[in-house]
Amino acid sequence: MADDQQRIESHLDERRVFPPPVEFAARARVASLEEYERLRDRARDDPEGFWRELAHTLDWLEPFHSVLEESPPFVKWFTGGKLNLSANCLDRHLAERGDRRAIVWEGEPGDARTLTYRELHAEVCRAAGALRSLGVSAGDRVAIYLPMIPELAISLLACARIGATHSVIFGGFSAEAIRDRVNDAGARVIITADGGWRRGKVVALKVNVDAALDGRDGHGCPTVEKVLVVTRTKTEITMRADRDVAWADALAKGGDGSPAALDAEHPLFILYTSGSTGKPKGVLHATGGYSVWAGYTTRVVFDLRDDDVYWCTADIGWVTGHSYVVYGPLLNGATTLMYEGAPDSPDKDRFWQMIARHRVSIFYTAPTAIRAFMRWGDEFPARHDLSSLRLLGTVGEPINPEAWMWYRRAIGGDRCPIVDTWWQTETGGILISPLPGATPTKPGSCTRPLPGIEADVVDRQGVSCPPNVGGFLVIKRPWPSMLRTIFGDPDRYVKSYFSEISIGGKPVYFAGDGARKDADGYFWVMGRVDDVINVAGHRLGTMEIESALVGHPDVAEAAVVGRPDELKGQAVVAFVTLRGGKTVTPEIVAALGAHVVKEIGALARPEEIRFTDALPKTRSGKIMRRLLKEIAAGGQVRGDVTTLEDMNVLNRLAQQGSDEE
Ligand code: WTA
Repeated sequence: MADDQQRIESHLDERRVFPPPVEFAARARVASLEEYERLRDRARDDPEGFWRELAHTLDWLEPFHSVLEESPPFVKWFTGGKLNLSANCLDRHLAERGDRRAIVWEGEPGDARTLTYRELHAEVCRAAGALRSLGVSAGDRVAIYLPMIPELAISLLACARIGATHSVIFGGFSAEAIRDRVNDAGARVIITADGGWRRGKVVALKVNVDAALDGRDGHGCPTVEKVLVVTRTKTEITMRADRDVAWADALAKGGDGSPAALDAEHPLFILYTSGSTGKPKGVLHATGGYSVWAGYTTRVVFDLRDDDVYWCTADIGWVTGHSYVVYGPLLNGATTLMYEGAPDSPDKDRFWQMIARHRVSIFYTAPTAIRAFMRWGDEFPARHDLSSLRLLGTVGEPINPEAWMWYRRAIGGDRCPIVDTWWQTETGGILISPLPGATPTKPGSCTRPLPGIEADVVDRQGVSCPPNVGGFLVIKRPWPSMLRTIFGDPDRYVKSYFSEISIGGKPVYFAGDGARKDADGYFWVMGRVDDVINVAGHRLGTMEIESALVGHPDVAEAAVVGRPDELKGQAVVAFVTLRGGKTVTPEIVAALGAHVVKEIGALARPEEIRFTDALPKTRSGKIMRRLLKEIAAGGQVRGDVTTLEDMNVLNRLAQQGSDEE
């Protein structure tokens, strides 16, 4: 029902088309639809030539001899080539724009720091030297668990400089989640801070790292040798003499900070993300292809120019922060703004105040944030001069047309184009998006694939769906910034992305998203079709939350589904069966919530826990999630109030049906 309404609404929106504003298009990098189509056709007809040309926008230390080597579904890009991403972000800008601001940073309490390209370069060299002095070398993994402070960007760049593969862990993850990730990656070093600021409170990061390292038996993470600790909040922490090193001391000691010449396929980073099954997957990206696409997409999608001040509000703990806070903007010599805290700290106009203060011209955020701003009201943006803005972007989940329209009016002053950018941790960079000077936009659609990207919506058999018929969103040809594998588990790579859909006998990349294309070839992403839910733009695997719940001694069985949520897109609803003899009490509800927070992090805490004496299952014993989704969506919101539902009835009903699920 809700789905039908959404579909009708979006069909109406197809008729609402916003051409690129004339003034914007006049100065844009890609300035007309014809120009976009020319690029697209060029990329389709001569992919090698197209990719080669893009790759040559980077500085190579040794030229590559081939553009793409495939042994499907595995790929290698720009083989033979050597480069350094950090040098491409920093060193090559020094001569012409050394004094230009690279990072403008604001802390939540109001402290600020600006680093020019020259200053950032110096810091990164010192950090790279410090890592080398600690014994880190190319190919080693370094885990990073930091708040949104300049040292986070510096750490990424320092790792990239020496060829250490970084694995950033979002600051909202718990000690247990850190341990899983650090162990899977086999990290030798962790970089963390005493704490970070969030809504006036300190988030205790070092304490979580200590707990992860101690583990249950005192040997939580056997591969970790050193922990580098940045002082941020001055909260009291314990430093273990044989293991923990103060960031400032390590940097002061010095070391070799020169950029290593790395193979194009050298593993640049691992980023863990949720899938339908099991533990989070370590998505692995390679240096050359990732750099090429991060640089190109930032340049054309955000139409970056020298006088821009660019702000992507994502945390660097997620892929958006990797590609569009750090690497993409710096590859282009741009000024990137970084903010540590919450959007409503100290008040609900913090973002607008910052846009006015820093004269931000490009602003990129998530639909969840936009919906929250909308709910808070027009008065907050109206207090500030937002006339510096010229382009708005959104990412992370489908945006409802109402929020799109509000964003355009209340933030963009009906003047700024909006780029709704579709992509994933696995894709490394944006794949489907308007080019703001060229593509007419429709509220709620991410429009058309970027040049070089062959996307389609197909059915299970791999046949293109007719206009407006929903299907699976697939990418039919490799692109440079695609993931190379799941770290340590190539079979899972094949199984997760290339086993579901084939076209003409050849498996194609299936992203996990459902979508439709309209009569103009515009993509409308409907959301995940697997057991991944998207809560406030954060990807969560229902299975991960289930296994956290089942790990609690009082729980016999658990099933987790997403429920549509006006603000967050989706909310986590858990159906739980308690072990015999246990009764539902407010204490148990609280304990289960706390348990999920401990196992994963606050972002996964169920919005609602519903207790039942049995879960509806097919005859073959599979939990009928579709049914649970309907129950979760249809039921009243009960918050923490608990009920015991008689699922036996449903169960019997369900069994009379088919075993299709
Ligand atoms: C969703 C974030 C609709 C999608 C960059 C995808 C979107 C998942 C959009 C990836 C968009 C991202 N419109 N849905 N513009 N952008 N998504 O890995 O379901 O955190 O599969 O990467 O977010 O989330 P991830």
